Amino acid sequence: MTCRRLLLTFSVIAVGVSNATHGFHFEEATIASIHHGFNNGSLTSVALIRYYLDQIARLNPLLHAVIEVSPDALLDAARADAERASRHRRATAGGLHGIPVLLKDLIATRDRLNTTAGSFALLGSVVRRDAGVVARLRRAGAVVLGKTNLPEQHGAIVIENLDITNLSIIQNITKSGFQAAVPAEFKFNLNNYLSNLSYSPVRSLAEVIAFNNAHPVEEKLKQYGQQLLLLSENTTGIGPRERAAIHQMTELSANGVEKLMKKHQLDAIFTPDSSVTTVLAYNGLPGIEVPAGYDEKGVPFGICFGGLKGYEPRLIEMAYAFEQATKVRKPPMIKV
Ligand SMILES: *[C@@H]1O[C@H](CO)[C@@H](O)[C@H](O)[C@H]1NC(C)=O
Ligand SMILES: *[C@@H]1O[C@H](CO)[C@@H](O)[C@H](O)[C@H]1NC(C)=O
Ligand SMILES: *[C@@H]1O[C@H](CO)[C@@H](O)[C@H](O)[C@H]1NC(C)=O
Ligand SMILES: *[C@@H]1O[C@H](CO)[C@@H](O)[C@H](O)[C@H]1NC(C)=O
Ligand SMILES: *[C@@H]1O[C@H](CO)[C@@H](O)[C@H](O)[C@H]1NC(C)=O
Ligand SMILES: *[C@@H]1O[C@H](CO)[C@@H](O)[C@H](O)[C@H]1NC(C)=O
Repeated sequence: MTCRRLLLTFSVIAVGVSNATHGFHFEEATIASIHHGFNNGSLTSVALIRYYLDQIARLNPLLHAVIEVSPDALLDAARADAERASRHRRATAGGLHGIPVLLKDLIATRDRLNTTAGSFALLGSVVRRDAGVVARLRRAGAVVLGKTNLPEQHGAIVIENLDITNLSIIQNITKSGFQAAVPAEFKFNLNNYLSNLSYSPVRSLAEVIAFNNAHPVEEKLKQYGQQLLLLSENTTGIGPRERAAIHQMTELSANGVEKLMKKHQLDAIFTPDSSVTTVLAYNGLPGIEVPAGYDEKGVPFGICFGGLKGYEPRLIEMAYAFEQATKVRKPPMIKV
């Protein structure tokens, strides 16, 4: 959970689509083709949003990818269309003007969407403001279409041919300090988040745990348990032990992946799937994952580009170049 928090986790998901209106091809549409469609009159934001809402209604019973759609998305789209029609230059200047985005459900939005990080206990809670990334997306003109599910990340770290110092310590959460630091940090941050909400059914980690115990079926308690929550609730804040553990994680990152990258003047490290996220998360380094292929069963897998702090622009460039060079992604074939 904390790894996810530390990494850049917002994702903009283009929903696959298959028909066309007025010559505009929705399927595999890119931001550039959408702008083109807006400009040549073959597309409006409202048509785009309608299309995606339709696709979500059609595919979601199978995919369960979208948790909520925004009741305001069509209105926001209509406003974007009106701005474009009136050629209000400043209003339409954003690179995402009138373009829908889906956000992961742990990203706070100050609108009528719920922000729950997948927890029923937080249904109906109201945040005081948009998360920074949401504020920027809105400033760029994006229409927030809805919230998506948070898939749990599992699996071991696989790093080959990368001589990261102390990797065996990094991979052992007891030795690395992760186990000592993260539950305490989690409790601190969660309580801070909950107490700062302008409305919430639950106000503390203890209340979340109690809520889960009272609603074991909805929260799938049998399936997932709430071990991290219990472990966290048991901590007593960031004391000397936790500070030492946080310091150790920062050191492991500095002496490990950061030193390696600086020594060899690497632009990025490149690993299968998102296995490198733990290594990156210890000191909040950025990573980006893109599709890389399909296994023998047709299940897609990705590769991750990781870098030092501030490397986001070049990582995005590299990931984009990789996508363009390989063109490995195929539109999903979903039969409903
Ligand atoms: C308008 O632009 C879109 C996107 O590039 C294209 O698919 C469509 O054919 C164009 N329509 C017209 C009438 O030029
Ligand atoms: C947010 O959650 C509340 C409570 O379950 C629900 O009534 C409401 O429809 C949800 N909002 C959206 C936009 O789905
Ligand atoms: C991780 O470190 C602890 C404490 O040193 C040790 O007991 C444990 O066996 C280690 N786990 C693994 C998987 O190496
Ligand atoms: C609420 O948020 C602000 C800034 O966003 C932070 O400084 C403060 O510590 C938070 N917690 C409480 C309980 O106000
Ligand atoms: C919480 O702490 C108590 C007392 O130290 C201990 O008995 C209990 O096992 C701990 N629970 C968890 C979930 O770690
Ligand atoms: C990691 O390895 C280096 C070199 O072997 C060592 O000096 C350092 O103390 C180790 N531990 C941490 C937390 O970086």
